[in-house]
Amino acid sequence: MEWKRKDLLSLRELSAEEIEAVLQTAATFVDVSKRSIKKVPTLRGKVVVNLFFEPSTRTRISFELAASRLSADVVNFEEVSSSGVKGETLKDTARNIEAMGVDIVVVRHKAAGAAKLLADSLSASVLNAGDGAHEHPTQGLLDIFTIMQKKGRLQGITVAIVGDISHSRVARSDIWGLTKLGAKVILVAPPTLVSRQFEKLGCEISFNIDEVLERADVVNMLRIQRERQEGGLFPSLREYTRLFGLTTARLKRAKPDVLIMHPGPLNRGVEISAEVADSSKSVILEQVTNGLAVRMAVMYLCSRARDVRYSNPTGAAH
Ligand code: CP
Repeated sequence: MEWKRKDLLSLRELSAEEIEAVLQTAATFVDVSKRSIKKVPTLRGKVVVNLFFEPSTRTRISFELAASRLSADVVNFEEVSSSGVKGETLKDTARNIEAMGVDIVVVRHKAAGAAKLLADSLSASVLNAGDGAHEHPTQGLLDIFTIMQKKGRLQGITVAIVGDISHSRVARSDIWGLTKLGAKVILVAPPTLVSRQFEKLGCEISFNIDEVLERADVVNMLRIQRERQEGGLFPSLREYTRLFGLTTARLKRAKPDVLIMHPGPLNRGVEISAEVADSSKSVILEQVTNGLAVRMAVMYLCSRARDVRYSNPTGAAH
């Protein structure tokens, strides 16, 4: 299939074929990061700006490295030292940055829909690096890529997503992507952290991690998103850990070849014990590694589609 999107805003909007196209393209980029010279000329002459209005370690560095490995020039925007503190809006900030000849805008923002707002306003490609509790599409894609790499398929695979589903953009992107590719998704959380609405997306809902562990091929543990909660959703972190935390003792119920995933950052000793996070069943660092190839793929596909859209094979958009 031909990729036609200049932007990546969500996995909800992608077809199964489009998701597969990203995964196949990412597979071709995996080797670049293993070479002694980790660079290909794919985006030479392009400019990428990272607009992060929320904290990030993995996603920001991964997008920066991905752009650099594709030979693009990269600029990192810091909100605290920007004119945003003087009241400039997100849209004005992005339009002014685009006026300097930026080709790809990577944006993370606390507001759901922030990436869509920019995509509708800019001719640059806009890549959503997380918008509120809405979506985190490249995290969803790298999670799916990692499962495919380890299990060889998604059809017939059962993925348990455990934790703060309600406030998780990762959960939403995972749910859209995994179900489109034929995986079964079970959401495990206290009733206050998961809505029955998710059943309409084809998910099973459980309040009992021990029962689900016996059936899961993959367990994706999520962080409690305190920054998006209004409080009072469970009695205490200690109680949450007792009922839902993934410990070595609890993991004994799981299938011998279960994969343990986590998007990071980990709260060791809360949703996952240090022993489980560092165990041989954990693919948490492989997720991070795969994120680079996935983001290279997304940048390449969206940038190429933008060039085609503006009928400008040199890539100069203005
Ligand atoms: N997984 C993820 O989005 O991590 P960061 O917040 O560190 O980017």
